[in-house]
Amino acid sequence: MAISLAELVARQPVLLAPMAGITDLPFRRLVARFGAGLVTSEMVASRELLGAAAAARARAELAGGARPAAVQIVGREAAVMAEAARLCVDQGAELIDINMGCPARKVTGGLSGSALMRDPDHALRLIEAVVAAVPVPVTVKMRLGWDDTSRNAALIARRAEAAGVAMVTIHGRTRCQFYSGRADWAAIAEVVRAVTIPVVANGDITDAASARAALSASAAAAVMVGRAARGAPWILARIAAGLAGGTVPAAPSGDALCDLISEHYEEMLRFYGTEIGLRVARKHLGWYLAPLGMEALRAELVRLEDPARVLAGLRRGFSELEAAA
Ligand SMILES: Cc1cc2nc3c(=O)[nH]c(=O)nc-3n(C[C@H](O)[C@H](O)[C@H](O)COP(=O)(O)O)c2cc1C
Repeated sequence: MAISLAELVARQPVLLAPMAGITDLPFRRLVARFGAGLVTSEMVASRELLGAAAAARARAELAGGARPAAVQIVGREAAVMAEAARLCVDQGAELIDINMGCPARKVTGGLSGSALMRDPDHALRLIEAVVAAVPVPVTVKMRLGWDDTSRNAALIARRAEAAGVAMVTIHGRTRCQFYSGRADWAAIAEVVRAVTIPVVANGDITDAASARAALSASAAAAVMVGRAARGAPWILARIAAGLAGGTVPAAPSGDALCDLISEHYEEMLRFYGTEIGLRVARKHLGWYLAPLGMEALRAELVRLEDPARVLAGLRRGFSELEAAA
């Protein structure tokens, strides 16, 4: 039975944003364990996926992850994207998200990601091809438009809905803004008015107060959180509890946090293998430790090549932190 995204976001209206290099399977599992409406894979280049590039397959990896299993694909050729979507569904994807928001020159230069917003007719051909190719819900993530003179998210969302798209997420910036300024949540309201499918508001949401403000300004059905989840996989659950007016679970601290970081670390090494895992894990260690003022420990740990020494150093660092408290 197809998932009802309206029901899903009504149950838990805080979703994890896909983030390349961050929301891999180990991180998504962790976020889902604390609680999230939906967690989506990092973007996967459709062409690489079909070319069986190992890294692309790892990015789309779903085994044992959160349900519904969602994969985001990026690309610019209808047939290739449709084939990539089919492959993801064969591997267990229960939802396919199309990336029409990535501002990176590497992606827009290939006329993918947010560049698709400059050519709505072409974007629609891709969307139609993907919708026709798979029996699961297809969603689209985009920005407000390419630049301030072409804010066409509402128009594209309306056409996407007519083509069978089940939900759209809008990052409240234009492509040309990249990450500058503030996300314009009120501008998302125009998209909400244009469609009947759920709209998700994204950009600069970091806590329950900003989530509430984004929902109120946009009238969106849900919010999506990206950067605030780095080093804080529990934050979506805290935001959701805050929105629901319930008891907000405490963020893990002390030994519980040390256990969590260690577990995440070991998962990354298992998932990527030691060599790549060590590199990927360094970023996450930084995000966990910086807010605790453990910069010196981070600097020490990221130089180590032996995972056992990293884990021992982490344990020692947390003991010292507790002793100093
Ligand atoms: C490092 C990084 C990687 C990202 N990768 C993706 C991606 O793969 N697909 C996508 O649709 N958006 C991607 N984004 C954009 C986020 O999903 C989100 O739209 C943006 O960060 C704004 O939300 P935030 O303010 O909550 O971070 C990425 C953002 C960052 C910072």
